[in-house]
Order: sequence, then structure tokens, then C-alpha cells
Amino acid sequence: MRGHDVGHVAEEKGARRLTVAIDGPAGVGKSTVAKLLASQLGYLYLDTGALYRAMAWALIESGRDPADAEAVAALLPTLSLQMQFHHGTAMVLVNGRDVTGELRTPEVSAAASTVSAVPAVRAWLLPIQRQIGQGGAVVAEGRDMGTKVFPSADVKFFLEADPNVRAQRRHRELVTAGHSGPFEETSADLASRDTRDRSRAIAPLVPAEDARHIDTSNLSATEVVDQMMAVIAAKL
Ligand code: DC
Repeated sequence: MRGHDVGHVAEEKGARRLTVAIDGPAGVGKSTVAKLLASQLGYLYLDTGALYRAMAWALIESGRDPADAEAVAALLPTLSLQMQFHHGTAMVLVNGRDVTGELRTPEVSAAASTVSAVPAVRAWLLPIQRQIGQGGAVVAEGRDMGTKVFPSADVKFFLEADPNVRAQRRHRELVTAGHSGPFEETSADLASRDTRDRSRAIAPLVPAEDARHIDTSNLSATEVVDQMMAVIAAKL
């Protein structure tokens, strides 16, 4: 499942192939930072939110309600979900169809958050995530990387930021992607997604005990990556 063309700088230098876990709420800058970090290290960037989004996309496509746990569970045996990596970029395939460009709409975001609370979905996605991450040299980003998927990750970060800053960032992203609605709508969507992600019974968004917390409210992505690299360099 892992692409053969991922350049592992760490391998060339004979350094260790670390597993780096990055968790935090929506709009905190996780994806930007995780991508930059993975590219600096020559590691694979694993965006686990894309897997939940692909699941949500498949549910919407099949006309099922993402909140209906039984309907969702019934879809799983018929579903094939793959992540393919080419030169550091991931492509997400649902039953062989490339859906990468369709995963970041507000509709898919809301459905992904809802479906991620279904225990059967989390159990189904667990081995997929671990398989992609096996062998290390990976920067894995999501909500439960440090707590559930890679509990023995070599380095764990938990990113936080002021909710208003997060809503502004997310709104800018949406505008850039051409999905703009009013800022108030983005802000309200983010707040309800936060509540769902933090309060669900299974694998809620909580920091691992051994995670390093970084508040990104007043930091650029490069500054966050620099802080992370300082921690990681000591382990390589
Ligand atoms: O990171 P993201 O916004 O692309 O994630 C979409 C949704 O998927 C998010 O609302 C929560 C869920 N998710 C999760 O529950 N666990 C993960 N490891 C990643 C994402």
C-alpha cells in the first residue's frame, strides 16, 4: 500500500526511521505542518483524516446516513479504500475511483466527523492506518495517532490554537478552494465538529499523556516545524 517512490532521507543518512504522531483539532494547522515536516525528514505523510473523509464520501455517494451506525456497518464489507503515494503526494481511492479532489467540501467534513464516531468504522480503519505506517519514517496526522493508532510513536505532538484563529484559518482554506460560505458558518461548523470529535465515546480527541503541546495561535507553520525538528533531531 505504501508507494515505492517515497524518498527516505533518514535511510540515506543511516538515521532512525521514526514514527511521528501529530494530533489536534480542526484548523490548528496540522496538515500544513505535518506535510512540511514529512518533506523535511523525507518521511511519508499520512493524512488519516482523508481516510475518514473517503469513508464519508462513500456513504454520501451510496445515499446512507453517516449517523446510522447499522447502515454504515453494512457498507463496510463492500468497500475498498486505498491510499497510494506518488512522490510524496497521496491519492485516495474508493472502490478504485480517485476521490482525492472531492474530500474537502463542508458536506464531506461534517459527514466525516459524524461517521468517525461509529466504532465499526474506527476498527475498520485501524489496520489500514497501521499498515501504511509500518516500518516507520512516517509523519501521521489525525485525532488519535498518539493515543490509539501509534501509541508507541517515537515523538508525539498535540497542536492547539485559539478557536477564532482556527476558524479564520479554515475559512481562508475554504475560500482558496472555492467552497466559501460566510465566516460565521465556518466558525459554527468548526465548533460543532470540535464538540463531536472531543465528546465521542470512542477514541475522542484527547492528547496522549506523553505528547508535547504546541500552541500554534501566534506561530507560522515554519516556526511550528522548527520547534518539532528540535525535538526530533535529538532522536534521529
Ligand atoms: O483532519 P480532518 O479534518 O481531515 O478529519 C476529518 C474528520 O475525521 C474529523 O472531524 C474527525 C475525523 N478523524 C478522526 O476521528 N480520527 C482521525 N485520526 C482523523 C480524522
